[in-house]
Amino acid sequence: MSFSEKPIGIFDSGLGGLTLVKAIKEKLPYENIVYLGDSLNVPYGDKTPGQITEFAFWNTQFLIEKGVKAVAIACNTADGTARREIQECFTLPLVGVIAPAAEKAASLTRNKKVGVIATQAAVKSGAYERALRSYLADCQVFSAPAPRLVPLIEAGKITSEDSDTVEALREYILPLRDKGIDTLILGCTHYPLILELVKDIVPGMNIVCSGTASIGALTEKLRAAALLNTSGVRGTAEYFVTGDPTEFGRHAGVFLGENIEGKVQKA
Ligand code: DGL
Repeated sequence: MSFSEKPIGIFDSGLGGLTLVKAIKEKLPYENIVYLGDSLNVPYGDKTPGQITEFAFWNTQFLIEKGVKAVAIACNTADGTARREIQECFTLPLVGVIAPAAEKAASLTRNKKVGVIATQAAVKSGAYERALRSYLADCQVFSAPAPRLVPLIEAGKITSEDSDTVEALREYILPLRDKGIDTLILGCTHYPLILELVKDIVPGMNIVCSGTASIGALTEKLRAAALLNTSGVRGTAEYFVTGDPTEFGRHAGVFLGENIEGKVQKA
């Protein structure tokens, strides 16, 4: 196997990063994938920076041992908190989710007022503010921590009938709308699952999904390092979790758009 045919490693705290896996399967179909969901430690959003950095190290190390050629941090919380440390310690190409989402939002906003909903730890890291201002220096950024969303989404409460999810979203998003934002970043890779609910709350708003927004950056990074898989052979994917593989497999389908029950392994 040539080096470019080696898999891309992707990690998240749980199921959310599968939204990036889905995008890779659609846009880069020849790429092989090794996914790690750190479901034993989900949610990351209420953990300390030290804990999140430790998890991110362990996850990256695990993927490297699986022989990956590059790592995508499909978790805003880990990207915002531990990205620099990981980049300093590992030499392989690394792609996050925050910078690509910020770049897209900066290109979409007309009034330079951008809202971000994300986990508590991701908001606390200030990474979205920094990234947005690096693309649009006078951008006003309004961030709201949304601690109830990841547990609700992991529990499968993602429809308009799930009133606790709709109420939480209204509580987090409406104050941002009232600040006059014209663009909202869903700064957590779990949130694409509730995109339709968000659209109902703020119709007409520009909405940027982190995770899927990073597919362009990932493609560029691989191309620049001559690591794009051009074999012409449809890629395969392996799924590992630190928690319960059966439970993960049961819920993965809705994130991935395909059933992987029985195919998830214990890390
Ligand atoms: N998908 C992770 C993110 O993007 C979820 C974080 C969590 O586990 O709280 O931030």
